[in-house]
Amino acid sequence: ASTLGASAAERGRYFGTAVAANHLGEAAYANTLNAEFNSVTPENEMKWDATEPNRNSFTFGNADQIVNHARSRGMRVRGHTLVWHSQLPGWVNSLGASDLRAAMTNHINQLMGRYRGQIHSWDVVNEAFVDGNSGARRSSPFQDRLGNGFIEEAFRIARAADPNAKLCYNDYNTDGINAKSNAVYNMVRDFVSRGVPIDCVGFQSHFNSASPVPSDYQANLQRFADLGLEVQITELDIAGSGTAQANDYTRVVNTCLAVSRCTGITVWGVTDKYSWRSGDTPLLFDGNYNKKPAYTAVLNALNNG
Ligand code: G3I
Repeated sequence: ASTLGASAAERGRYFGTAVAANHLGEAAYANTLNAEFNSVTPENEMKWDATEPNRNSFTFGNADQIVNHARSRGMRVRGHTLVWHSQLPGWVNSLGASDLRAAMTNHINQLMGRYRGQIHSWDVVNEAFVDGNSGARRSSPFQDRLGNGFIEEAFRIARAADPNAKLCYNDYNTDGINAKSNAVYNMVRDFVSRGVPIDCVGFQSHFNSASPVPSDYQANLQRFADLGLEVQITELDIAGSGTAQANDYTRVVNTCLAVSRCTGITVWGVTDKYSWRSGDTPLLFDGNYNKKPAYTAVLNALNNG
């Protein structure tokens, strides 16, 4: 096929992008999105600070705009993200344990309830482990007040709130086999063995020269898949340009295609113009919405890989 989404669909997968609501009015942005992608992830609009800036006062306008844009054009939606230490409004930080538990429950129920049946996969918990060799949990209001059980609690609440959404744990620097991904693996394996509801693991896949596409990327995704879970590449971007960048993108696509439970790939933005990695050119379309060598590499891999 001739677009990313249609080509991925022929391989039984989705090909998505992060989307920012404030760019949807830019014709070239919307046209590129609409032509090429069949899944969208709101880049910031479903996060806690955007949706519940004050306790139990919810603002869904920007998230609704993205969901409506996507669904009216037949694109699927990934939910990002329910429980995360970052982009948390200040009021969450000041709650004691029982209040925080109630607030987390309400937040998950309100978000998942509003979009029940409309989200194919939700990042229920995002980035709960530290980088480095310890395999430890990251300090956050949730970790510090609710303890290690907060992740399991969040997944149980989420399953009840939207039984049809795939429930994902999502993280970065877990793409290869390392201490951090081992810690996630051990947690997820324990969840599976005890029947804690989890369906998928998201591998953000933000790559650059300091953190290149790992040589054991496929082996790592496969070991999670072998637990019976879906794996998804959720925030892909690769610093660089030209042939080197194109080759790296090919490797990533071929990795997903080689793991039968890898159900889709999301790139973290439509165009280099709006990448969160300012000063870098990590995406498939340049700042003028021209297709880059990386775009052609991805399309070819989806069609022939
Ligand atoms: O919306 C406010 C605006 O009102 C304000 O005037 C402006 C001034 O700084 O900030 C705007 O918020 C910014 C927001 O993006 C929306 O543009 C924040 O400052 C900025 O920090 C925020 O960055 C986002 C970042 O997450 C925050 O952690 C990036 O766009 C987003 O791409 C990035 O995405 C994360 C994933 O959620 C999780 N994995 C890592 C990934 C990359 O960091």
